[in-house]
Amino acid sequence: MHAPMNRETVMSRARDDPEPILLTIFSALGREAEIPRLLTMFSESERARFSQHHGRENAVVTRATLRQVLSSLLRTEPGGIVIENDAHGRPRAVARRRVEFSVTHTAHVGAIIATTGRLALGIDLEWRGRVKPWTDDAVARMARRCLTTDERTEFDTLRDDEKRNAFLRAWTRKEAFLKALGTGLTTPMRHVHLGLGDIPDLRQLPAPAQGWAWRLLDLDVRHTPAACEPAGDTAVPRDFLGAIAVGLPRGRTGGLAEPEADITVRLTIDAPGFEVSVTDSGSR
Ligand SMILES: CC(C)(COP(=O)(O)OP(=O)(O)OC[C@H]1O[C@@H](n2cnc3c(N)ncnc32)[C@H](O)[C@@H]1OP(=O)(O)O)[C@@H](O)C(=O)NCCC(=O)NCCS
Repeated sequence: MHAPMNRETVMSRARDDPEPILLTIFSALGREAEIPRLLTMFSESERARFSQHHGRENAVVTRATLRQVLSSLLRTEPGGIVIENDAHGRPRAVARRRVEFSVTHTAHVGAIIATTGRLALGIDLEWRGRVKPWTDDAVARMARRCLTTDERTEFDTLRDDEKRNAFLRAWTRKEAFLKALGTGLTTPMRHVHLGLGDIPDLRQLPAPAQGWAWRLLDLDVRHTPAACEPAGDTAVPRDFLGAIAVGLPRGRTGGLAEPEADITVRLTIDAPGFEVSVTDSGSR
């Protein structure tokens, strides 16, 4: 039986602890034998879809973990939850109780954020090694495709060795944000200015984002090989970075300056060998 390894509160600035955001990090490594059992909690359409999914194992583990997380929030059997995709492909639970969530999976790792609070949530996680083989030309091309004009001016001042990391950080922040908005990449990334610095720049958000007070948190995930794995196995991705976007309805901040809006993120690491940090650098 797969059980959560640990649970801790990574950030608590809430005065009355409003509904927390649950962040669950997990891995599909070594879970091949569980797949048939996990598939039994899926709907027919999920079974059809996930059996053809690229990176199938992690997609199945992710959907099963999502069902378990939703089950604890909705107090319903994991297999009894109806999940539908909207026109932009965003999954939503059809339930009597409000539940918001966002999902990401990359290589063998997945992450889910979920809450019963009235929040907009988005999460993205990427393997750091993904951008390492990119040529300088490829980095420049992706920057032109994904960054705003002002972000590119900032990008051009960076050293070549800083550019890949800065690009990936910007990518994950934008993807998390666009998932929280629900449009995904149907909104071009180059239309979303978040800046490239440690402190996200939230002053020029697109119109659909303006009814919300936004927080962008950075996520760093490191996976250490288990004792039985060859320590130098470079084939398994180990280092990931990502972002979490949280939108609070403006009325709820009660006149507080936006960076002071209260949120609590509770972290569950559901696999051995993970170190996870969530960084809130505030915003401009
Ligand atoms: C949402 C989107 C941004 C997916 O991104 P991705 O990096 O491929 O995948 P992730 O694992 O981070 O996220 C996938 C999850 O996002 C969720 N999702 C899909 N569409 C969504 C939307 N419109 N809004 C919010 N969430 C969405 C789903 O839960 C999906 O997982 P599931 O199908 O297993 O449930 C997608 O709209 C898209 O267009 N992807 C293209 C990715 C791309 O071009 N990548 C190049 C990177 S350099």
